[in-house]
Formats: sequence, structure tokens, C-alpha cells
Amino acid sequence: MNPTCKKRLGAIRLETMKVVAQEEIAPAIFELVLEGEMVEVMRAGQFLHLRVPDDAHLLRRPISISSIDKVKKQCHLIYRIEGTGTAIFSTLSQGDTLDVMGPQGNGFDLSDLDKQSQVLLVGGGIGVPPLLEVAKELSDRGVKVVTVLGFANKDAVILETELAQYGQVFVTTDDGSYGIKGNVSVVINDLDSPFDAVYSCGAPGMMKYINQTFYDHPRAYLSLESRMACGMGACYACVLKVPESETVSQRVCEDGPVFRTGTVLL
Ligand SMILES: Cc1cc2nc3c(=O)[nH]c(=O)nc-3n(C[C@H](O)[C@H](O)[C@H](O)COP(=O)(O)OP(=O)(O)OC[C@H]3O[C@@H](n4cnc5c(N)ncnc54)[C@H](O)[C@@H]3O)c2cc1C
Ligand code: FES
Repeated sequence: MNPTCKKRLGAIRLETMKVVAQEEIAPAIFELVLEGEMVEVMRAGQFLHLRVPDDAHLLRRPISISSIDKVKKQCHLIYRIEGTGTAIFSTLSQGDTLDVMGPQGNGFDLSDLDKQSQVLLVGGGIGVPPLLEVAKELSDRGVKVVTVLGFANKDAVILETELAQYGQVFVTTDDGSYGIKGNVSVVINDLDSPFDAVYSCGAPGMMKYINQTFYDHPRAYLSLESRMACGMGACYACVLKVPESETVSQRVCEDGPVFRTGTVLL
């Protein structure tokens, strides 16, 4: 390990990771491949807090880990250009470096599932990427994986082929330009299989629907977003309230970003 590239601040890990590749996989959506020692400790559902390589941007930007290759020490991130930070990330190319804090957050609980188990993955838009590593790891264990994806339109569809390697995939689009017209509920309401676990990530409306539909499910998980500042549990910029409590809150960066359904107010 190169000591100049990496240091630990308490439990916080910082590393200068190498950009291995970057490609635009859909309009304004990029796949970035990073390499570094940090990959060894990454888990599905965690995120990286990336420093924008531009002195005008003080706050890091959180991006989920989409897939992990511990042998090559590489991870893939998939992000959409929203503002200037992500626009600057999109200019990075092979050989560049990125200052990375992470891996942050708790990640998805993939324990106690085997070839007798069946899971449901639900992803929406730019929330789909973290589900790819979940599908890969569970399918390697023989778990049956059913995936339902929702997008605004055909141009926004990502990762359908990649997820189809691991099980059946249903795609919905709001405008019906690809797959089934409507949102993911059109498919999910018709699925009658009992799922041992449900993993989801998507826009707030989708997360509310999953939270309500699987409220009492013992293993249904939501990966949530919030505006972040420190990304390491110190500033409380990212808190969510807890049901039936005026005082208790949960930090998306440190206590999440993955929460069980019914445990936070959406
Ligand atoms: C835990 C976590 C994981 C994430 N994973 C991904 C991912 O895998 N891929 C991806 O494309 N994006 C992801 N995001 C969102 C991403 O962090 C923001 O899009 C990014 O920080 C925007 O930075 P910017 O400088 O380009 O835009 P800014 O100039 O900061 O903002 C541009 C617009 O985006 C909105 N925005 C900024 N941050 C967020 C946010 N956190 N949630 C909702 N809206 C926001 C702003 O309100 C504004 O309208 C994640 C966010 C969190 C909290
Ligand atoms: S962003 Fe600072 S506590 Fe979560």
C-alpha cells in the first residue's frame, strides 16, 4: 500500500484512487471505474464520498458503489450529471486520480440467504446501480433474483442486460416508450411470490411505495438519499425522522443509507 496515497482519520478512510475507465452509457449517465486498496473493504449498498477535483467545490459528492471486483481492486460507479460537481466528474479519464472517502454507510444486509431463497430487487432511474452488486453476490450463492426496474423513458434505461445475467428482469417506463407502461407498482402488485428479502433504491415516490407495500416485511430494505455535507456522521445535515418519535433521528450517511422499511419517516 502506498502510504502517500492513503491515510486513515479515525474510522474514516481516504484514498487517492486511480481512474481506470469512464464511459457515457446513456445520455448524461456515466460509468466510472476506479482502482485502489479501498475496494478490499467495500460492500454492496455502500457509497463513496468523492472530492470534486476543483477548488471551488468544498463539499464532497456521494455516489453509490455499483459493482465491486476485489481481485482487480476495482469498483464501478454509475452517476447522472445533475450539477457542476457531477459534470466535472464526467471529464475524468483513464490515468486521472480522484480523492475518495469511504466506503461510507452500512450497505445492504445480504446474510442468511441461500439457494432456497428468493429476493426482489426494485430500482428506479439512477437508483438502479447499487442493486447490481446485490444481484451478483446473491446469484453467486444460488439465490433466485427477480428484478423490477422503473425509468422515465427508453433513453434512461440502464443495466437491464447486466441484471438479466442474474435473474428475471421487468422494465417499466413512465411514458411506455420501453417495456411495460407505468411505474414499478404495475409489476410488483401482480407478483405473488413470497420474497425472503426485498432490496430497493430509487426516487422518493418509489421509496414511499416500497415502504408502504413492505412495511411489516422483516427483510425489506430501502437505500435512501439525502443532501449531504460531511458524509461521515458529524454534521447532521442528512437526518431523517423516526416514526413516533419527536427526538430520535437517523443519519443517512452513517446510520444508512440502507434502512429497513418502517424504521424512518419518508
Ligand atoms: C447515499 C447517496 C448515494 C448516491 N448515489 C448516486 C449514484 O449512484 N448515482 C448518481 O447519479 N447520484 C447519486 N447520488 C446523488 C448525487 O450525490 C448527486 O446527484 C450529486 O451530489 C449532485 O452533485 P452536483 O454537484 O452535480 O449537483 P449540485 O449542483 O450539488 O446539485 C444539482 C441538483 O441536484 C440536486 N441534488 C444534489 N444532491 C442531491 C442528493 N443527494 N439527492 C437529491 N438531489 C440532489 C440538487 O438539489 C440540485 O437540484 C447519491 C446521493 C446519496 C446521498
Ligand atoms: S452528511 Fe454530515 S451527518 Fe450525514
